Amino acid sequence: MRVGVLTGGGDCPGLNAVLRAVTRKGIEIYGHEVVGFRSGWQGLVDDLVMPLGLDAVEDILARGGTILGSSRTNPYTVDGGVDRVRRTIAAREIDALIAIGGEDTLGVAERLTSEGVPVVGVPKTIDNDLDATDYTFGFDTAVHIATEAIDRLRTTAESHHRALVVEVMGRHAGWIALHSGLAGGANVILGPEKRFSVPQVCEWVRRRFERQYAPIIVVAEGAIPEGGEEVLQTGERDAFGHVRLGGIGQWLAEELAECTGKESRAVVLGHTQRGGTPTAYDRVLATRFGMHAIDAVSEGDFGEMVALRGTDIVRVPLAEATAKLKTVPLERYAEAEFLFG
Ligand code: F6P
Repeated sequence: MRVGVLTGGGDCPGLNAVLRAVTRKGIEIYGHEVVGFRSGWQGLVDDLVMPLGLDAVEDILARGGTILGSSRTNPYTVDGGVDRVRRTIAAREIDALIAIGGEDTLGVAERLTSEGVPVVGVPKTIDNDLDATDYTFGFDTAVHIATEAIDRLRTTAESHHRALVVEVMGRHAGWIALHSGLAGGANVILGPEKRFSVPQVCEWVRRRFERQYAPIIVVAEGAIPEGGEEVLQTGERDAFGHVRLGGIGQWLAEELAECTGKESRAVVLGHTQRGGTPTAYDRVLATRFGMHAIDAVSEGDFGEMVALRGTDIVRVPLAEATAKLKTVPLERYAEAEFLFG
């Protein structure tokens, strides 16, 4: 078979580990040819290829980013996009595609599958917000990076008696905030799933100062104050209709300075959470996903996504995987709340 593979959406630690596993097992076990498409779905729209032989994937297991490049291109919003995807598939004699991505990339995979294009999906995202899998690779690395940042910021917070607000990514899911906040011993954790009360946060912050310690507040970029709105960097929408979130940390730091009278600073971790080498956990998960995805392709089991259930890798229909976002259940915040303040 000639198997095409692409990485779409935000880059994420572990993408190269999937590419290595797909290529090595595809060539060494199944005797397939593997063709990389550059820059996500744009590579299919514009016929941008990169042959993936064994040499191309040597030494990439621990490398962050993606050797194929990525984009947020949506063929369904590009003029003649889907026809161009079909033309590329025909011209390159591709028998199957492996799409590695989050809700957007896999949403396109699902639509194409239902229109007869043979695709298998692999779930990636630091946000961990895909419903059909227990974990996506990239999440563990992002949580480690955010936790390390919290540990480092704590020393400045304590030395200068400041409140430090740490803004983390996650879009509309608070998984990174919750896990890094718990791991870093944050005094307040705010996610997008539950609107927060500014007076309540002020109270927690004051209590922490009263005990002669400086508070760390972890806030997800999508968190919303009661009676307020999401804070946006720009009002522009990407090809999948997403706005660019960011700025809630600074807004909250100013509110806290006002209500507590204490110096408050905000730090935005931003793309550091997506950068650099994947953790061991993410390398293993990404490698297993890649090996199972090429198995699914070789068995002709299209329209499926590989997923983690417990410790097993299973296959779930792409339609199920992209039907809804996996957000943090409110009980998980309630469970953590006794640690606040
Ligand atoms: O989905 C991953 C993610 O990092 C989100 O957490 C964040 O909101 C978004 O991508 C940022 O995307 P971009 O890098 O395109 O601004």
